[in-house]
Amino acid sequence: MCGIVGYVGEQAATPLLLDGLAKLEYRGYDSAGIALAGNTLCVHKAAGRLSVLENELRGLSLPQRVGIGHTRWATHGAPTDQNAHPHVSGDGAFAVVHNGIIENYTALRERLHDVSFVSQTDTEVIAHLLQHHFDGNLLSTVRRTVADLEGAFALGIVSSHAPDCLFAVRKASPLVIGICRHGVLIASDVTALLPYTRQYIPLADGDIARITRNDVTIFDKKGKMVGRPMQEVTWDVESAQKGGYDHFMLKEIYEQPEAVWATLSPRLNKGRVVLDDVIFTDAQLAALRRIHIVACGSSYHVGLVGKTVLEQLTRLPVEVDLASEFRYRDPLVDSSSLVIVISQSGETADTLAALREAKARGARVLSVVNVVGSSIAAESDDVLYTWAGPEIAVATTKAYSTQLAMMYLIAIHLGERLGRLGEEEVSALTAELKTLPDRIRTALRTAARLRELAKRYQDREHAYFIGRGLDYAVAMEGSLKLKEISYLHSEAYAAGELKHGTISLVETGTLVVAAACVEAVAGKTLSNVQEVKARGAEVLLLVPEGAATDGADHVVTLPRVHPLFIPSVEVIPLQLWGYFLALARGCDIDNPRNLAKSVTVE
Ligand code: M6R
Repeated sequence: MCGIVGYVGEQAATPLLLDGLAKLEYRGYDSAGIALAGNTLCVHKAAGRLSVLENELRGLSLPQRVGIGHTRWATHGAPTDQNAHPHVSGDGAFAVVHNGIIENYTALRERLHDVSFVSQTDTEVIAHLLQHHFDGNLLSTVRRTVADLEGAFALGIVSSHAPDCLFAVRKASPLVIGICRHGVLIASDVTALLPYTRQYIPLADGDIARITRNDVTIFDKKGKMVGRPMQEVTWDVESAQKGGYDHFMLKEIYEQPEAVWATLSPRLNKGRVVLDDVIFTDAQLAALRRIHIVACGSSYHVGLVGKTVLEQLTRLPVEVDLASEFRYRDPLVDSSSLVIVISQSGETADTLAALREAKARGARVLSVVNVVGSSIAAESDDVLYTWAGPEIAVATTKAYSTQLAMMYLIAIHLGERLGRLGEEEVSALTAELKTLPDRIRTALRTAARLRELAKRYQDREHAYFIGRGLDYAVAMEGSLKLKEISYLHSEAYAAGELKHGTISLVETGTLVVAAACVEAVAGKTLSNVQEVKARGAEVLLLVPEGAATDGADHVVTLPRVHPLFIPSVEVIPLQLWGYFLALARGCDIDNPRNLAKSVTVE
C-alpha cells in the first residue's frame, strides 16, 4: 500500500522524509521518491527499495525545509522510475504524492489532451490539473483541482509558487498531521510520525490543510475553516504498523469492506460492469466454448466459487483445476477456451507454469492478480487487478475476498455479453454487489462471539467443515484458514459425502463447522448436522438471519445477500474462527510454520 509523508519546519526535510518512508516500508512498496520545495522543485525518485533512492541522494546538498515523500505500491502502471511518485506538472511548479485511486483519471487525461503525460499512473493527472487551475492563489488552485477528482485519495502537494508551504488533502483515504518541536509533519499512517511526536490531528473526509512552519489551517469540504481535535498515539511503532490490531491478519480481515469496494467500484458504471480494458469481441465470444479456472490454495477456492457463479450466469461449462495438476494432465484446452488464472502474488510457480501451458495450447488467458507488474500479470493476455492492497499476513483474507468480487464481475460481464443476462438482471446484480461491503461489515460483528467460543474449543485436535454448493466451496477455505494458522487438523467435506466414509471419524466432542447459508440446500445440510450430532459431534452452524438452526450447539447468524454472493459474507466468520482459535492456541499467526506468502517453487 502506498505511503505518504511530508514535512515543513526548521530542519532539512530530506532525512525526516526518508526516515518517515522507512517507517512505512512494512506496508509494501516497489518504488520511492521525494520532492523538495524551493524556487525550483527538486524531485528524486526510483523504482526498487528505499535504499536505491537513498543511494541516489547520497552526497547531494539538500537544505530544503519543506518536502513530500512517497512509497508506491503499483496500481496504475508497472513499478518503474517514471511511475514512482512524486508526479510533477508540465511547468515543473507542482509536485504531488497520492494514495488511493482517481477513478475518473481517464476522462481527466482526455480533458487535458494537450498535455504530454510521462507515466501510466492515475496520479499524474493531478499535477497537471494543479497547473491548469493555477490562479495565483494556491488554496483555490488545490480546491478546484480536488473538485475535479473522483475516487478515494490522500494527497501531499508542494509548489514552487509557495515554497514555504505544504498542502494536505484527504478524501476517504487516511492522512494525519503531526506537530513536533521543530515543525509539522503529514503522514498517511501515524507510524511515520512516532519518532517525532505522539500528538496528531486526523484530517476528516474532504479536508484540505494548508501547512507552514508555524501554522496549520484546515478547511472542510465546504471551504469553511475548521478546528480538528488533536489525538494522542498510545501504541508503539510495531502496534501502530498493525493499526492497533494484534496481527496483520486481523487488520486485513477488518480491511475487507474497503478492499472489496475498491475492487468493485471502478468497474461498476450505471448499472453495468466495465472490465478495465479487457475487450471480448463478438467473434471471440461466439467462438468461446468453455472456461477453465486455474489457481492454487485459497485462490483455487475462489475458483470453485467462480465455477458456480460463471456457470449460473453464462451457462458455459467451467472447469476448475489446481495449477499443479493442470500443468501435467494434458488438459483439453484450445483456442475456444478462456483460461482464468487467479493469483494474489502473481508469482506462484505452478500457476505461472499452468498459464504458459494454456497459452501454448492457444487459449486466451485472463489473470486476476493483486500485484501489479508480477510475472503472471506480465505473461497474461489480459489482467484484472484486485485492489486489496499489499497483504502481509501469510494467510490470505482480503485478497481472497477481492478475488471473489472479481469473479462476480467477470461472470456478470460475460453473462451480459453472451446474451444470457438482460439489462434488468445485470442492473439488479450490480445493485446487489454494491451492498457487499456493508454486509461484510455486519458479518465482522460476529468477532466477539467467535473469540469467546474459540477459547472453549482451543484444545481440540480435529475439526470438520461441511456444506453443500457454494457453502462447500467456502467451507474449504474456512478449513484451510484454520489448519494453516492454528495447526489444528481440519478437513472440509461436501456435507452429503460424509456418510460415504468420513463419518466414521466423528465421535463424542468432534468439532464440526456446518455452513448452511445456501437456502436451496440448507435443509439437506441440517440433516447432515443431525447425523453428526447423533454421533456426539459439537456443531457450530452458520446460517442467514431467520433460518432454521435445528440441532446446532452454537449458531452464527449472517446478513442475507444474493444467493450467488453468499461466499463473501460467509467467509468472514470462518476467517475469524481460524484467527481466534490460532490466537487461543498461542500460534505465530502472521508467519505460520513451513509456509511462505509467495510460493515460487514447484
Ligand atoms: O499468490 P497466490 O494467490 O497464487 O497463492 C496461492 C496460495 O499459495 C495461497 O492462496 C495460499 O493458499 C494462502 N496463503 C492461504 O491462505
